[in-house]
Amino acid sequence: MEKKIFSGVQPTGNLHLGNYLGAIKNFVQLNNDKENDCIFCVVDLHAITVKQNPKELRGNIRETVATFVASGIDPKKSIIFNQSKVTAHSEVAWILSCTARTGWLSRMTQFKEKAGKDKEKASVGLYSYPVLMAADILLYDATHVPVGDDQKQHLELCRDIAQKFNNDFQVEDFFKVPEPLIQKEFSRIMSLKDGTKKMSKSELSDLSRINLTDSADQIINKIKKAKTDPLPMPSSLDELNKRPEAKNLIAIYSSLTGFKIDKVINEFSGKNFSVFKENLSQVLVEKILPISLEIKKLLDEKNFLDKILDDGSQKAHIIASRKVKEIHKIIGF
Ligand code: AMP
Ligand code: TRP
Repeated sequence: MEKKIFSGVQPTGNLHLGNYLGAIKNFVQLNNDKENDCIFCVVDLHAITVKQNPKELRGNIRETVATFVASGIDPKKSIIFNQSKVTAHSEVAWILSCTARTGWLSRMTQFKEKAGKDKEKASVGLYSYPVLMAADILLYDATHVPVGDDQKQHLELCRDIAQKFNNDFQVEDFFKVPEPLIQKEFSRIMSLKDGTKKMSKSELSDLSRINLTDSADQIINKIKKAKTDPLPMPSSLDELNKRPEAKNLIAIYSSLTGFKIDKVINEFSGKNFSVFKENLSQVLVEKILPISLEIKKLLDEKNFLDKILDDGSQKAHIIASRKVKEIHKIIGF
């Protein structure tokens, strides 16, 4: 069956190994399958739900495109564009905010995490963020949405919104109810400094993550300093599950090499962590350094990156405006 793929990444800087293994690596595989129609969106409207510096935002939008292309997404095959250039996203987000219920949004854990203690000071946009995400997906009749584990709840909300709209207006199957594509073992890459916290762009310590623009020396240094426990490498899955830092490093190794987790456990069982870390650094440098070098090269080609976004936006606009017309008719505008 032909799959229609849609996913988004926020241009908020510091794209890291978690973004790559949890999402972008999957985008590349989906892009490479001839059967699929893929759209990858730089979600700049989502980025401004928290304060952004305009100059940095502009740079981060280009860097996100550069990361997509450097990782292997082909802009001739897949549509790459930025959300703000297709106004249908904001418009349909408004319309869907009249379908979504406040009770549904109040349950979103990401809002609670991002808003922190002082919820009254969070932007209205941060609260309604998942409705905009639903608009992104539903505008393109996406059937499959590849994301990391942290977006699971937002996708469930998107499915609820689609179903409620179809029901309310008696338009069966008008909005396609999308399936999440979440990788089983690598959907949540953890911080190198704390195996119980997600690897994140906004974590203050740069040592907590491998950035996709890191040099070989930075990668090696970060793995050397990555937190481990005092025991030697685990010798069973049961043991691994009780040791979050070991589990995370082994998951990273397994995802990059394609070796199954139990095979990795067998190979390193009882050995010193430093032996494993050397192997891990080597694999990381092998896989991530070429991407990092390519991103840096592409960042000097601003016109090339801008043209990808222009072309992509035009294509996306054609698909989205068709859907908007139908939505208007259904609603009675
Ligand atoms: P964001 O940078 O928040 O726009 O995230 C872009 C994509 O990367 C989304 O699909 C996220 O679910 C995914 N992602 C972000 N952080 C991680 C992580 N630590 N592990 C796995 N996936 C992640
Ligand atoms: N909210 C997603 C994130 O932070 C990004 C995103 C926006 C997205 N719109 C989307 C992901 C649509 C998938 C589909 O990672």
